[in-house]
Amino acid sequence: MSQSIQPPRVLNIEDLRRIAKRRLPRVVFDYIDGGAEAELTLRANCRAFEAVTFRPRCAVATPACDLRTTVLGTPLSMPLILAPVGSSRLIYPRGEEAAARAAGAAGIGYTLSTLSGCCLEDVAAASKAPVWYQLYLLGGRDCALSAIERARVAGFLALVVTIDTPVAGMRERDLRNRVKELLSRKLGMMLPFVSQFLTKPRWLAAFLADGGLMKFPNIVVPGEGPMLYADVTTALEQSMVSWQDLRWIREAWSGPIVIKGVHTGDDGRRAVDAGADALVVSNHGGRQLDGVAPTLRVLPEVLAAVGDRIEVLLDGGIRRGSDIAKALCLGARAVLAGRAYAYGLGAAGGAGVARAIEVLRTDLIRTLKLLGCASTAKLDESYIDIPADWRSIGRG
Ligand SMILES: Cc1cc2nc3c(=O)[nH]c(=O)nc-3n(C[C@H](O)[C@H](O)[C@H](O)COP(=O)(O)O)c2cc1C
Repeated sequence: MSQSIQPPRVLNIEDLRRIAKRRLPRVVFDYIDGGAEAELTLRANCRAFEAVTFRPRCAVATPACDLRTTVLGTPLSMPLILAPVGSSRLIYPRGEEAAARAAGAAGIGYTLSTLSGCCLEDVAAASKAPVWYQLYLLGGRDCALSAIERARVAGFLALVVTIDTPVAGMRERDLRNRVKELLSRKLGMMLPFVSQFLTKPRWLAAFLADGGLMKFPNIVVPGEGPMLYADVTTALEQSMVSWQDLRWIREAWSGPIVIKGVHTGDDGRRAVDAGADALVVSNHGGRQLDGVAPTLRVLPEVLAAVGDRIEVLLDGGIRRGSDIAKALCLGARAVLAGRAYAYGLGAAGGAGVARAIEVLRTDLIRTLKLLGCASTAKLDESYIDIPADWRSIGRG
């Protein structure tokens, strides 16, 4: 993998976001970009990275920086995994496959959402690197068990169980944009969107050529077939995961389990007790409970509780390679990114995802060189200053 740092037209993730905004219908762009309620946590996730400052070691030569790591025993070319982003196929034709392919080509992991428009078998086949399957219990236990079995056969390496969605967060942009009506597939309900779609003819043509609004091929309800978009919100509200469910999930899946959506040290301990192999400190990118603390800020609490027993990953607010470096300095094993690559997918499909990964990779190399640190494995708290009150957030 080249380590040269060329200044291309797309310099950063914000550039990809701007292009995606131009290319996508508003209802699709806002679906990616928005968060819950007042979007306090969405913004706080990003701002938390600003509160951490670097302490570089100058005049230290770092001719080749080593970004390689392992997560759950699997080698990755850098400490980055693409987070599950539901309905990526609305963003770009066969979006989940395109994103998985780009991740595989870059040697990093990809996590497929249960709410995917592409068959999990096709996504696994698209990537050369490890793929993880993110599980929601939509459609009931038998439906989940059949997806788990399909994921095992298809070669998914880990099962990611998301625990922060007892109900869907109130995403006000989606409500104002009338996403529910759009997804109802009733022609009359879709008419108000026609003018919005006609202003984005390239997206519309690609969307229609890809078959239009998909069903969910990985949520196959026994006796009914793949779940419809229109049924998802109600199904989500009847499908929360509890710690008790983790028992039968643990029995059904013999590979590694990653618990995603841990906000506190206490839940970190519960994840360990439930037999998880890794956890993701995550607030769903500010899309669920608005007003929770940013993930970077709760990372020290979770690490203090379980960092010696389980691999601790983080997501939320990763927009630059320096954000990845800060999370690693604080002790995360690796990070997941959601919007950073979803903007790339909206901007230019698989090429846009590849560009997002490359931006983060070259940023991270540059950050290491400027820090005077030869490898991501060597990053630790000696390279940063954190606000004095960050350590007092936890309660034991
Ligand atoms: C458009 C979108 C869809 C998402 N869909 C899912 C999903 O289906 N399952 C899940 O566990 N998390 C989902 N997430 C949350 C991400 O996996 C991740 O936690 C979050 O995006 C991290 O924050 P970031 O976007 O700031 O990187 C979604 C996020 C976005 C932006």
